[in-house]
Amino acid sequence: MSSQAESTAPPPPGPAAAIASDPVPPPIITTPKCIIRLHHPSDIAAMQRAADSPAVAKYMSYRFASPYTLEDAQRWLGFAMNFKAPGTDILTSYAICDPVINTYLGGIGVKTREDIEENTFEVGYWIGEASWGKGIMTEALRAYAKWVFRTFPNVIRLEGNTFGANEASAKVLRNAGFVYEGTRRKAAVKHGVVYDVLMFSLLREECPLDN
Ligand SMILES: CC(C)(COP(=O)(O)OP(=O)(O)OC[C@H]1O[C@@H](n2cnc3c(N)ncnc32)[C@H](O)[C@@H]1OP(=O)(O)O)[C@@H](O)C(=O)NCCC(=O)NCCS
Repeated sequence: MSSQAESTAPPPPGPAAAIASDPVPPPIITTPKCIIRLHHPSDIAAMQRAADSPAVAKYMSYRFASPYTLEDAQRWLGFAMNFKAPGTDILTSYAICDPVINTYLGGIGVKTREDIEENTFEVGYWIGEASWGKGIMTEALRAYAKWVFRTFPNVIRLEGNTFGANEASAKVLRNAGFVYEGTRRKAAVKHGVVYDVLMFSLLREECPLDN
């Protein structure tokens, strides 16, 4: 792990029904390249601009709208500011922001599972094209994975799945310490194109939490 400079704060309290006049939430994670914090209504315009790109949406599920409108951003904000991990008061979706001016660059979060898989969370992430290739997501994912294991003691496995064609995302997962587990062949179809889905995971014992 090369992110000694990162720092983390305790999990935020919920619910986070912030209104526009509330202050922008403090970071839960600070690294040299980004801060990660709860969403705020003032993020909507920057979120829409960053998300409204066919290149960003290409390897996302259909739930990530394209074109991406202000209404889509508003809807996402409503979800992100209310969805908590089951049995906790902790929100799971966060904004990745510029470390200097705190503007919205992208998002990161987990989907939780139920029943026999309740100890597994699945991570998802994206950032706007203007921020690509600067190492931001590698750093964000590394730090966020640590935060997940620290914050949710029941989680033993963090999964990451990506289209086989999404080289950048596979690299991000590997760079952040995730282990490639195999390929679900032809598991996804988007706009008529058939894709393999690569499966990665990071286990609690593979993620050092002491720095
Ligand atoms: C995938 C994504 C998150 C990568 O974020 P990023 O901040 O650009 O990633 P990093 O800068 O940390 O780069 C990680 C690696 O990918 C490489 N990379 C970045 N963009 C790339 C591209 N378009 N094609 C191939 N490799 C790329 C980087 O060079 C780096 O490689 P290295 O380890 O050899 O140096 C970003 O491109 C994105 O948000 N894409 C759209 C949404 C998406 O696909 N999300 C993931 C769904 S599973």
